Amino acid sequence: MTPPPNRQCRIHPSILSADFANLQSELKRISTADAVHVDVMDNHFVPNLTLGLPVVTRIQEVSPVPLDVHLMISDVDRWAPDYAKAGAASVTFHAEASAAPIKLARELRALGSRAAMALRPATPVEPYLDLLPELDMLLIMTVEPGFGGQEFLDVMLPKIRRARAAIDGSGADVAIQVDGGVSADTITRAAEAGADVFVAGSAVYNASDPEAVIASLRTAGQQAIG
Ligand code: DX5
Ligand code: ZN
Repeated sequence: MTPPPNRQCRIHPSILSADFANLQSELKRISTADAVHVDVMDNHFVPNLTLGLPVVTRIQEVSPVPLDVHLMISDVDRWAPDYAKAGAASVTFHAEASAAPIKLARELRALGSRAAMALRPATPVEPYLDLLPELDMLLIMTVEPGFGGQEFLDVMLPKIRRARAAIDGSGADVAIQVDGGVSADTITRAAEAGADVFVAGSAVYNASDPEAVIASLRTAGQQAIG
């Protein structure tokens, strides 16, 4: 069996905790990040409303780093391809919101974006293991989606471990992203369990020096990945 590829720790700050009146300058504060995580919420799939395609299109035009778009919306099969067309490097749809996840993942890849699928905390990973070759990234939510600043759910660590074992066993090259409550305190546990892409909203944007936080999260995460 081929050994699993060397995993690289990637830090994706979430602009959900940024100043929405000054997005361009807020993007400059995280220019050393691997990507910017953009949370799209429709007040239907989750009980909160953020921004949509016109704003994401504009963020794409001015962002110094690639876009990682996290769609927390219903009817995602209809809308996700438009975010790939807008130039997002990666588009994440929720398994619970997609009627045809394989078709959608293929469509996203055909449009030049990476395809990612997210699981809410109560959604098990096992029914989706056969889909792994269709995906570039699996997002395991470590809070209930909808709001920043919530506490990391340690109860998700076994799910991350099972997903990592399944990915490594299949030989597929799929990253595992965790989103929610990621901080200097929690990143090591998540990385040891098998995550390699880390979304951090409040930990990065509530800091006076976001780039210092990005650097220390990256060091801690990489050390735990090994
Ligand atoms: C929550 C969002 C997250 C959020 C994370 O639904 O998907 O991306 O911004 O924020 P923190 O890092 O503060 O938990
Ligand atoms: Zn998110």
